[in-house]
Amino acid sequence: MEAHAVNPWVAVAYLIAGVCFILALRGLSSPATSRSGNRYGMIGMTIAVLTTLLTHVPVLGPPDPDLLVEIWVFDKVTIVEILAAIAIGAIIGLTTARRIAMTAMPQLVAAFHSLVGLAAVLVGLAAWLNPGAFGILDDAGQIFLPSRIEMSLGIAIGAITFSGSVIAFLKLNGNMSGAPILLPARHVINFGVLAAIIGLIGAYVLSDAGGPGEGLLIVWITLAAFAVGFLLIIPIGGADMPVVVSMLNSYSGWAAAAMGFTLHNTAMIITGALVGSSGAILSYIMCKAMNRSFISVIAGGFGADAGGAGEGGAKEQRPWKRGSAEDAAFLMKEAENVIIIPGYGMAVAQAQHALREMTDLLKEHGVNVKFAIHPVAGRMPGHMNVLLAEASVPYDEVFELEDINSEFAQADVAFIIGANDVVNPAAKTDKSSPIYGMPVFDVDKAKTIFFIKRSMGGQGYAGVDNDVFYMDQTMMLLSDAKKMVEEINKSLTD
Ligand code: TAP
Repeated sequence: MEAHAVNPWVAVAYLIAGVCFILALRGLSSPATSRSGNRYGMIGMTIAVLTTLLTHVPVLGPPDPDLLVEIWVFDKVTIVEILAAIAIGAIIGLTTARRIAMTAMPQLVAAFHSLVGLAAVLVGLAAWLNPGAFGILDDAGQIFLPSRIEMSLGIAIGAITFSGSVIAFLKLNGNMSGAPILLPARHVINFGVLAAIIGLIGAYVLSDAGGPGEGLLIVWITLAAFAVGFLLIIPIGGADMPVVVSMLNSYSGWAAAAMGFTLHNTAMIITGALVGSSGAILSYIMCKAMNRSFISVIAGGFGADAGGAGEGGAKEQRPWKRGSAEDAAFLMKEAENVIIIPGYGMAVAQAQHALREMTDLLKEHGVNVKFAIHPVAGRMPGHMNVLLAEASVPYDEVFELEDINSEFAQADVAFIIGANDVVNPAAKTDKSSPIYGMPVFDVDKAKTIFFIKRSMGGQGYAGVDNDVFYMDQTMMLLSDAKKMVEEINKSLTD
């Protein structure tokens, strides 16, 4: 088999891009370094794109066949057309990033993953239709065996990522019910289709590459993979969807890595492998934080009995106390230690700036204020950290669950703002609860609890009641989170 020599300068440029991507991931692991992490990512991607363009742009002269691999399917493609495509993509990306609400980030990520999957399918099909242009033909005019494996795997994973991400987008965006759709014998059907895909890939790889039936095999692989992406995601309930998005992120990385092999592009292989493995690790961390096994998430069905996220239903009437902004301002001003627990509702209300102002006012009164962040508070990893950073809350006031949970016993006030499941004691005590086993904040140990939410009916994501509402030391502050905090700030300044 002919070896593909790579220009050493290209190899060095891709290596630098790869190092930038690793530094980007490292930077993104903490809010304090996330900006520099993003910058490394952008620098790495610029180097990778420029290198790819410079090595293949016909305008700069024909590529040296001894050093480079010609990748154009349509050899009349010009730099102007490529730049126009990049500009259109950049405008769409920039406009979307500026307009998107923080709360809609999970569905945006799902939508973008679907494009990565589709790109992998299209590149794979292009390579299959015009293998000569991709430099994957041997002397006998047949596609190399390893290229056939990479191509068919890339197409299959890409197609699963595409259809799965479209379903995840529709569920998260509310265009489709978030409730699990459970087909009878779904596991048998899914395993059957997956086994069929593996069989078809085997048949394609071992087939006479130019022989009859080969075309049909690739088409069947693509169609069956589209179907399996759809079948795998429909039974998964809304509550597990963020894990699924992260898992699809991982798939999109592996699809890109497979295509990197087909295109002989080292940068794509490195990036794909980084995305693939980091997405898989993130899925694992999220499952652990929700005390769910990865297998049970993938098997689907979670939330089918609970009636879906946020649905009310008849509940037993129990006494509870209503507080006011004045009560909260008065008690917190007098407190020594206040711990704030933000959740999804804070993000919906965009209350982070008002909340920062509240902590500044409390600090002026000599109160020690800390933020407690649960790993799955909100709807995506790091959701609360991003919002608090946006409001310039100092990083040293923000604590992870395991670092602050023991401090609730000394806290005068636990101030819960738009959080619910992450403070629900049923996770510790009620074996029948869908959130049983999830580590939660010990807010019940605080002397006083203020609980901001809009109504007694609205529940958390898991759709279960919360004993904290009815505790002796709890005062419910029923209002939109931003409005309530603004009123508290007013009382603090009066
Ligand atoms: P949730 O349990 O979803 O509770 C959100 C609360 O905010 C509700 O009580 C809701 O009650 C209230 N709310 C909504 N809009 C509001 C507004 N404008 N003003 C004031 N309150 C408002 O939130 P959480 O505690 O952050 O828990 C996150 C949940 O998502 C967990 O179950 C977690 O497992 C799940 N989840 C998260 C992730 C990640 S990665 N973050 C991934 C998968 C699943 P009202 O409607 O009455 O206002």
